[in-house]
Amino acid sequence: VKKIAHISDLHFGTVVPEIAESLKLLLHAERPDLVIISGDLTQRARSGQYKDAKEYLDSLPQPQLVVPGNHDVPLFNVFARFLAPLAGYKRYISDDLDPVYEDDDLVVLGLNTARSFTWKNGRVSPEQISYIKQRICGAKERKVTILVTHHPFLPPPEQGKGAVVGRARELLKAIDECDLDLMLAGHFHQSYSGGTSEAYTLLENSTLVVQAGTATSHRTKDERNSFNMIETEEGFVRVSIRTWNGAAFEEERVEVYREDGNHWEREDHKPIRDTTEEAENQSITSR
Ligand SMILES: [Fe+2]
Ligand SMILES: [Fe+2]
Repeated sequence: VKKIAHISDLHFGTVVPEIAESLKLLLHAERPDLVIISGDLTQRARSGQYKDAKEYLDSLPQPQLVVPGNHDVPLFNVFARFLAPLAGYKRYISDDLDPVYEDDDLVVLGLNTARSFTWKNGRVSPEQISYIKQRICGAKERKVTILVTHHPFLPPPEQGKGAVVGRARELLKAIDECDLDLMLAGHFHQSYSGGTSEAYTLLENSTLVVQAGTATSHRTKDERNSFNMIETEEGFVRVSIRTWNGAAFEEERVEVYREDGNHWEREDHKPIRDTTEEAENQSITSR
C-alpha cells in the first residue's frame, strides 16, 4: 500500500503560518511515499510569494509532484498574464509543467491546466489529451495510475458542468477504454470525492475523483482548511480527510473505495455509479 499526501491551494500570500507549520510537522511524522501539490501555490503569482512557496515545499518530505493553478498565473498584470503566464512558477518552482512520478506501484501524471484566457476555470489542450491517452492506454504493467491537475474533472455536489475544467469530457472519453484509476485536484477549496460516471453518463468506466480543500490559506469558503492522506493499492483507495480544528489537523472522515468491475464502490456498499432519476437529471452529458 502506498501512502500519498494530497495537499492543494497553499496560496502563499494568504497563508496562516500556524497551519503551515502544523501541516509540515504532520507530514514529516506521517512519512508519505509521495507528496502531491495540486496547484495554487501563490495568491497573486508574485516573486515573494513564489519564494515563500518554494522554501516551504523544500521543507516538506520528498518526493513531490507539483502542478500549477490559476492563481500561479498573474491576473492583473496583463503583459505577464498573456506573454509569460507561468514565468514565476518556472523560475521558482519547476519548469516541468506536466511532471511525471513513477515507482514500482504508481504512475502519477501531472497536467498543467492553468491558462491566461480561461483564467479561472482552466483547460486541457488537445495535445495534452493525446499525451495522456498515449501514456495511460499504452501502459503494459499494472500500476495504480493517477492524474493530477489543479482544476477538477468532477463538479462539487451542488454545482453544474460549468465548474469542471475545459475539455474534461473530451479527455475522459478519450481514455474511457484505458485504465486510469484516480484523479486528484483542488481549486474549489472543497473536499469531496466520487466517480466520473456519476456526472458523465456516456462513460463506460468510472474513474475515482478525489478533491482537496485549501491546506493553508485563510481564504476558505464554507469549509475549514484540510488536506487528504490517501492510501492506495491496485483496486483500493482509502482517503483520510484531515481538517484544521483551530489548533491541529484531525481526521474528520474516512472514505474507502474498492474497484468493482468498471466502477468504484464505496465501502459502505453504496454504489458510486448512481442510476437514480435525479442523477440522470443532473447529468452533465444528457444536455
Ligand atoms: Fe485556490
Ligand atoms: Fe484555483
